[in-house]
Amino acid sequence: MSIAEQHTNEELIGRADIDDLEAILSVTNTDRDEVISAVENNSETIFTWDYEKGRRAGLDKLYEKAKHSQWDGQKDLPWDTEVDQESVVMANAEMNGGMIDFDTAGTPFEKFGDKEWLEVGIQSQNWTLSQFLHGEQGALVCTAKIVETVPWIDAKYYASTQVMDEARHVEVFAKYLDEKLSGHYPVNAHLKLLLDDIIKDPRWDMTYLGMQIMVEGLALAAFGFIRQMTTEPLLKQLLRYVMSDEARHVAFGVLSLQEYYAELSDAEIFERQEFAFEAGVRMRDRFLQQEVWEHMGVPVKDAIELVMRTPTRQMFQMMLFSKIVPNAKKLGLLDRNDSWLRRRYEELGVIQFEDWVDTADEFDTFALNEADQRSA
Ligand SMILES: [Fe+2]
Ligand SMILES: [Fe+2]
Repeated sequence: MSIAEQHTNEELIGRADIDDLEAILSVTNTDRDEVISAVENNSETIFTWDYEKGRRAGLDKLYEKAKHSQWDGQKDLPWDTEVDQESVVMANAEMNGGMIDFDTAGTPFEKFGDKEWLEVGIQSQNWTLSQFLHGEQGALVCTAKIVETVPWIDAKYYASTQVMDEARHVEVFAKYLDEKLSGHYPVNAHLKLLLDDIIKDPRWDMTYLGMQIMVEGLALAAFGFIRQMTTEPLLKQLLRYVMSDEARHVAFGVLSLQEYYAELSDAEIFERQEFAFEAGVRMRDRFLQQEVWEHMGVPVKDAIELVMRTPTRQMFQMMLFSKIVPNAKKLGLLDRNDSWLRRRYEELGVIQFEDWVDTADEFDTFALNEADQRSA
């Protein structure tokens, strides 16, 4: 496809205006009790007979590093920590400047008292951790797919270590939700659309772009933000451990795609740019927490319009892109084809991160050190 044939917003994200809240909220989960979800995987499984280890030095180094960075989700985290969810919500609010930061007069929240705001905080935690859990399963299946589809042995080796990492992440988030919080939410429809799109795409690099660059880039930023905003020591430690792995995963994406994208034509790059835009919008949509407001019984659209305008939320929404944008730049996606993606990220209000540190070798900064392991 040439740039002249670019897709419209309707074709890419199902609506003309990226901020059309009504259209965003019309995408909802159709079956909240579903246990199994099948998605067509259209890819070819690739064997390689070139077993020369270390042909791709960056990936080889990452693989060697991963072998020695494994931890045990059951044994290495302080699961005996007492978590009183109400106290945690209140302590977090106190540390972060209160439960609400807008005037509720004349809004659907006018009658909300301390009890209702506490419930919002609790549901919001249940929701956030549930979506992290579902995203981790997405990473598990996407990376297993990469083991099959990537043509390079060094990448197959590395991806196999990531599969184990993701199993551990699913395990610890599920355990935290079950033992420390008070309820699960089903996968958010926007997140599921994105995961399905990633899995359905037959091109091996699209799995990386969707998962390692977009979803995991966002997760790394979100985990860091939440880790700073929580007072709960077990969650802090859990996120610290998970982030040490996630930084390697994002580096895996950048190192693999950097080589491949340098060879692609403008038309091929353009398809990747469109995908990076679509994925960015889907991830922004998913963080609106529409299910929490449904649960609270307030008009969802009004609630989101109010809450999303608050300074903390706006900062959070922007911070989510702090890893994605510099990595997109490093891959050449921002500026190829007359800076098409740069302009789209400008519309999303996230271009200011372009010169932040990219994640190609940031994983060393995130590696667990002795102090982390001692405090566990
Ligand atoms: Fe993960
Ligand atoms: Fe990951």
